[in-house]
Amino acid sequence: MANDKHNLVVEAIGLSKVFKDFWGRPKARAVNGIDFSVRQGQVFGLLGPNGSGKSTTVKMILGLLYPSRGILKVFGEEPQNVDMKSRIGYLPEETYLYRYLTAMETLDFFGALFGLSVDKRRERCTQLLEMVGLAHAIDRPVGEFSKGMARRIGLAQALVNDPDLVILDEPTSGLDPIGCREVKDVIRLLASRGKTVILCSHLLADVQDVCDDVLMLYGGKVQVDGSLKEILLEEDKTRVITPRLSPATVQELQQWLLAHGVSSDADIHIDTPLRNLEDFFLDMVRQARASSVDTAGAHSGGEIPAYLLDGGKLAANRQQAILETLRRPEQVPQPVAANVAPAQPAVNLEKLEALGSAPAKPVKEPDPDQAASEAAAKARQEANAKLANLNK
Ligand SMILES: Nc1ncnc2c1ncn2[C@@H]1O[C@H](COP(=O)(O)OP(=O)(O)OP(=O)(O)O)[C@@H](O)[C@H]1O
Ligand SMILES: [Mg+2]
Repeated sequence: MANDKHNLVVEAIGLSKVFKDFWGRPKARAVNGIDFSVRQGQVFGLLGPNGSGKSTTVKMILGLLYPSRGILKVFGEEPQNVDMKSRIGYLPEETYLYRYLTAMETLDFFGALFGLSVDKRRERCTQLLEMVGLAHAIDRPVGEFSKGMARRIGLAQALVNDPDLVILDEPTSGLDPIGCREVKDVIRLLASRGKTVILCSHLLADVQDVCDDVLMLYGGKVQVDGSLKEILLEEDKTRVITPRLSPATVQELQQWLLAHGVSSDADIHIDTPLRNLEDFFLDMVRQARASSVDTAGAHSGGEIPAYLLDGGKLAANRQQAILETLRRPEQVPQPVAANVAPAQPAVNLEKLEALGSAPAKPVKEPDPDQAASEAAAKARQEANAKLANLNK
């Protein structure tokens, strides 16, 4: 596994953080001996209830807090290493902005902190504001921004230095569903470009959409960790999706299943699936927008800046190939209710069209053999055991 070691972006062993009071007495054991590793190109989810230690862990990765115990390496270095910080982008839990700076000045300020030239700053800031849907608000003071607009500029700020590791603490909080979808698309695109993303979020549907691996914390301790697909796979069940069947066919199918190994009626569940609310909502917005007036708020985002796609290294046709890959439709069939028009493959907003909504890594679709592997079963067993303990 020496090769794997080289791909490690973050490695934590026995990591702990105890906050102490004025007298040096332990006040809160925020993180309590956790082990985890994040590999290059991964979208890594940090999950847990309020106060479970997610932000504290992130702050230790950023070198903003010193661990009380344990080992923590980021790109193989101590988190306090100053040179390494230029490789990290961070969107904090709360968006901290200088309220009298305009959107452009805000990004320019952060670009200057990273030592970018004036020309590069102007180019990147314009592209990023376009990407996050704030191009029309470029000269407005950020103090006037709505919560979602502030979140969008926070995301742009986290990407201004073209980071190799992007840490996003609740990136979709306060965003409308369009903004959420766009942030998820950006995350997937960044990962497909070999960037590493650490994501803290309470929005489990978002986590499920974008994360490869997750670490679930409770009381500062790891309760569950591993590949999300392996953890969630219900290995002992099979789902079949077909065009709508008549009641007579459904009955026949049930009889057939009972005659072929399914032991009881209660084990068979046949229904008409529901569409995904996010897809439905975005579709509604697309249709409404065709006839609606302009908004002073955030617009839907624009193109991903070229520097995030290739850093000047990729040929245009390679970029195109990446976007094509992202645009490829889901390989898993989507549930379609017979009485509702089939879900659109992607929302038809301009930028989303450009990005597509397919998973960033279709090549990593689960291989059924692998899914059935012992590792998957073990991960799930451990997860269930730990959850059962939690419920005690
Ligand atoms: N600066 C601090 N001083 C003292 N205790 C702190 C400090 N920061 C965090 N804590 C404590 O550490 C624990 C973990 O907090 P943390 O902010 O890491 O949780 P979190 O998982 O990010 O929660 P949330 O979902 O609410 O953001 C909590 O008990 C919190 O009160
Ligand atoms: Mg937090």
